[in-house]
Amino acid sequence: MTPEELQARCEEVRKEWAEASTSAHDPAAVEALRVSFLGRKGSVTAVFDALRTLPPEARAGAGKLLNALKGEITSALEGLQAEVEREAVGSRLAAERHDFTLPGKWRPLGRLHPLTQVRREIEDIFMKLGFDVASGPEMETDYYNFEALAIPADHPARDDWDSFYIEEGRLLRTHTSPVQIRVMKSQPPPVRIVCPGRCYRRDNPDATHSPVFHQIELLWVEKGLTMAHLKWILGEFVRAFFGPGYEMRISADFFPFTEPSAQVHIRRQGQARATHHAGGWLEIMGAGMVAPAVLTEVGYNPEEVTGFAFGLGVERMAMLRWGVEDIRLFFQNDVRFLSQF
Ligand code: PHE
Repeated sequence: MTPEELQARCEEVRKEWAEASTSAHDPAAVEALRVSFLGRKGSVTAVFDALRTLPPEARAGAGKLLNALKGEITSALEGLQAEVEREAVGSRLAAERHDFTLPGKWRPLGRLHPLTQVRREIEDIFMKLGFDVASGPEMETDYYNFEALAIPADHPARDDWDSFYIEEGRLLRTHTSPVQIRVMKSQPPPVRIVCPGRCYRRDNPDATHSPVFHQIELLWVEKGLTMAHLKWILGEFVRAFFGPGYEMRISADFFPFTEPSAQVHIRRQGQARATHHAGGWLEIMGAGMVAPAVLTEVGYNPEEVTGFAFGLGVERMAMLRWGVEDIRLFFQNDVRFLSQF
């Protein structure tokens, strides 16, 4: 090789570099570039090898030329390396960036059915007052549901409880009052219980009727109980459940198993609006002093103990609390409705 040829070769390599280096955009391509120019078999290395074929007096000048070329390419390569590395870090950061303004993943949480919430709350109120929670079967016998509650077969009051009969003498309980009988028969007085439960009546479903609904029964039997105690318990309950600002009214009613019998109404104070009842009064339960015949039936002595009971509608409580206007909503399991409570 002549010095002129070597010089021309240097120029060629310089051009090759100028061309090849523009297309290296990632660390791997830059490394490939390094190998193909400065590696053991790279084009710069090859020109260095050619140096030996030059006449000795031409080598020093050519060597300078070559070193300059190598220096150029080396520093250009370093610049390129730094650049692609910066870019790689930049794009990794961009890919990993968290946008904290994005809405989070919404995981729906289950919640208690409004009727369960109300039931538990009412149980709590009475447990704090010293009542135990009792329960009884939903399929009852005629005896517990009616007979023992002083409602014999031909009694006109049976019409008030339109029943689902399963077979002769067996029915779905129409109220929670049969649990009164079961509890009193199983223990001597005193008795202080509440019993929540499902009840069934042959009512056509509409905004205020459902063939299945829930009641909470309360029963307190002990020496010396009077109507005044009942009134006190009712006042405590209304205040605890509805809060202040409600007034309560007790008026006469009739149930075969209580004497006297009463119905309890409440109304928001100062609200004389005619909603369901004239004057804004809403019935929340039936109540009364346990009839002597019932006490005798379970083996208690009505001369020794007296008692009172009530049965309140759980759906009615929930409807009043949340302003729900159709009882059927509680049984349709529509999550759009249920998730509001
Ligand atoms: N069991 C009655 C009903 O379902 C309510 C009630 C319970 C009344 C206890 C008086 C005493 O209508």
